[in-house]
This record gives sequence, structure tokens and C-alpha cells, in this order.
Amino acid sequence: MTKRKLGRGVAIVGAGMSKFGAFPGKSSRDLFVDAFQEMLASVDKGFDARDIEALFIGNFSSDLFEGQGHTAPIMADWVGLTPRPATRVEDACASGGVALRQGMLAIASGLYDIVLVGGIEKMTDLPIERVTDTLATAADALYEVPAGFTFPGLYASMATAYMSRYGANTDVFLKVGYKNHENGSLNDKAQFGQRIADIMEMRKKSAAKKGLPIPEWADEMAFLKDDRANPIIAWPMRLYDCSPVSDGAAAVILVSEELASRFTDRPLYVIGSGQASDGATHSRPTMTSLPSAKQAASIAYEMAGVRPADIQVVEVHDCFTVAEIIATEDLGFFEPGQGWRAVEEGQTARGGPRPINTSGGLKSKGHPVGASGVGQVLEIWKQLRGEAGARQLPGAPHLGLTHNVGGTGQTCTVHIFERR
Ligand code: COA
Repeated sequence: MTKRKLGRGVAIVGAGMSKFGAFPGKSSRDLFVDAFQEMLASVDKGFDARDIEALFIGNFSSDLFEGQGHTAPIMADWVGLTPRPATRVEDACASGGVALRQGMLAIASGLYDIVLVGGIEKMTDLPIERVTDTLATAADALYEVPAGFTFPGLYASMATAYMSRYGANTDVFLKVGYKNHENGSLNDKAQFGQRIADIMEMRKKSAAKKGLPIPEWADEMAFLKDDRANPIIAWPMRLYDCSPVSDGAAAVILVSEELASRFTDRPLYVIGSGQASDGATHSRPTMTSLPSAKQAASIAYEMAGVRPADIQVVEVHDCFTVAEIIATEDLGFFEPGQGWRAVEEGQTARGGPRPINTSGGLKSKGHPVGASGVGQVLEIWKQLRGEAGARQLPGAPHLGLTHNVGGTGQTCTVHIFERR
């Protein structure tokens, strides 16, 4: 494959996000305004929003979730940016990552110098049955949906294939959820920002308040293995293996490399970008890897001129806990079949040699699907600038990576960021 490079360098000079969660009184417009305002405030040397020339907004399904299509110009209007071109980007849960890539390409091509990339989703207005059906539109409506597959079901199939092929047990999935709740407890934007131990305490207090028998668990793993506390959604995926249904928005500002110093002395450069497509789950030769993720990663690594071992901060698409383990193998951090062992050994914990999802990941931080790919960039922005507070990784990391999956891998984007 021909080695690709950008026509000119692209830098991120500001980033913001709304809180992720369930916000009954707020629309995706309100959440986008929250993200936009935080993004403006994050630009070190100040920023005039009128300098933005175009918007690319990742959004999966505002049509079905909110009864509102054509969302990009609405977002432009709500932050006072009409008549600039505003383009909605849809690739299921990878919409945010693809919007980032489109914004980056628009600058690299020389067409624009300053571009806003956003991501939005407002999922919690619908009952869970309709959320599940809406999410299932990202699967194959010809073969998978009529066969009864939901997204938890599709990823559960991948989990059983992974266990069968590599000898992993169900405990390892619970350990990924445990880890991501530990990380998310240090993130004030997280939807489920509690440690499992905190959730156990909350359950006990709630039972006591209702006059019910107070549940007892020996430890966190006992809680996570308890069918009442952590019910099975689609075996072996339990509640705490699933990312939640979420509302949220995120926004970053991209500029051409030459302009970066006008806004900050600490930009992040987008040095690698890969995107790939694939058929639906049923048509793949393997259920234990996402070929699109491997392809996107290899393009991004080659463009950036770095190897997996060089990357210090990583946000992967853990829509289900099994997806995080597979991602760490597809990205080349561990050999195929070794990702689960790395979890067992604590390698992917915040204090381990290969920390994964320091933000809490989609599991704990939340997964407003169209916003997630842009939300991942926020963590890299904070970690590489030394602004991640209590969850800051030591050693002044300078290389970060995001991995954003649409569906079960029909789309994948991988981006690599550098602080120089
Ligand atoms: N993790 C942890 N706790 C969760 C949770 C999650 N993912 N989702 C809900 N909860 C909690 C709620 O806060 C609530 O707690 P409470 O009883 O103390 O108030 C309880 O679990 C039940 O919540 P509820 O909203 O009734 O759950 P639900 O059954 O409607 O939804 C799932 C649970 C797992 C079905 C839903 O989160 C889901 O579909 N997740 C996957 C989303 C998805 O597929 N995304 C796309 C990926 S590609």
C-alpha cells in the first residue's frame, strides 16, 4: 500500500465536552452548547469563534432518538456560526471519529484553516426497547436483525468466540469493567463515575432505606458475579460489561499547523489517521478480531511513523468489555489471544505498563454514540497536556491514540496525536 501523508499538518488547539449522562431536560443542542463553551474556554491564548470556517458534526441517529434530522446546521445555528458550511457525519458509533477525520482532511487539503469538529447524541428520551432497535439499525438489517441480534447479542457472540478460541473466562470481562469504573471515578464528566466498591455501598444503603434485607458481597468480584446485582444482558455480557445509554456532546477545534501558535504553545498534532470499512459481523472470517481496526491502525501507525510500543495514552472503543480486549490486540499492544491475560496481570490498569481507557472508557464515562469518538480525543488532550488531574499518567506522555468503532467494526477509525 502506498504510504500516505497529510498535505499539511493539522493541530488541535482547544477541546471541550458536556457531562455525559441522562439529562431529561436537555436536548443535543443544549449539550453541544455546553461542549462548545468549554472548548472555547480551553484555548490558551483566546479564540474568536467567528474565525471558524466550517463544522463537521458526528451524529448517529438524532432522527430516531430525538425526531430531528439535519442536525449539523442546527448546531451551527445554536452556537452562532451560520452561514458557515455545517456537515453531519454518520458512521454509527464511529461518527465522531469519522467527523474528526473529515475535519482534518478539510484542513490538510488547504480548503480551510480553522474547523470545528463536534459529536452529539441524545439517547435517553426513548424507552430502552426503542433505543435497542435504533442501535440495531447499525447492524445488518438483512441478515443480523431478523435473526434476533441486538448489539449486546453481537458482542456477546464475539465474547463466546474469544473464550472458546483463547481459553479466556468470563471473570476477565468483569475485570475490564471494574478497571474502567476505577478510572471513571476520577473523571467528573463520567455518567457512571463510581468505583464498583462505591456502587456496592450505594446498593446497601438503598436497601436499608427501603427496609429490605441488606445484601452482602465478599468483594467486588462477588458483586460482579451476582446475577441480581449484575444481571446477564446477553451471556456472557452482564450489565457492567455494557456501555450505558447516554446523552452527551464533545467538540474540538482544528487548525492548520502554521496557525497553531496563535492559539496555544501546547497544541496536539494529529500525526496519524486511518479509517477502514468491513462487512457485517456474520460475513467475517473471524469473530475474535476486527479487520477494519487492524487496517485503520496500520495506516495510522505508518502515517505517524510510530509503533504500537511508542504510544503512551490510549482510548479504545469499549462499548462492551470484550471489545476493549479485542481492541488491544487489533492495535498491536498484545499478541492475538494475549489481551485477556494482560487484563488478568493488571497491565491495562492506570498504574500498569499499558494503561487503557484512563477516562473510564465508554463503559464508565458513557457512550452517547455520535459523540464518543470526539469525547475520546478530550482524554488524549488532557493527558498529553498534563491536565488530567487525579487520573494523570506519570512521565509527561507525548503520544496518544484513539480507536473508534462503528457497529461491530463495519467502520473503524484510528488517530494518533503528538505533543511536541
Ligand atoms: N452500567 C452500569 N449500570 C447501568 C448501566 C450500565 N451500562 N445501564 C444502566 N445501569 C444502571 C442504572 O443506573 C439503574 O440503576 P438503579 O437501579 O440503581 O437506578 C439500573 O442499572 C437499571 O437501569 P436501566 O436504565 O433500567 O437499564 P436498562 O435495562 O434499561 O439498560 C442496558 C441496560 C445494558 C440494556 C443498556 O445500558 C444498553 O443497552 N447498553 C448497551 C448500549 C449499546 O449497545 N450501545 C452501542 C454499542 S455498539
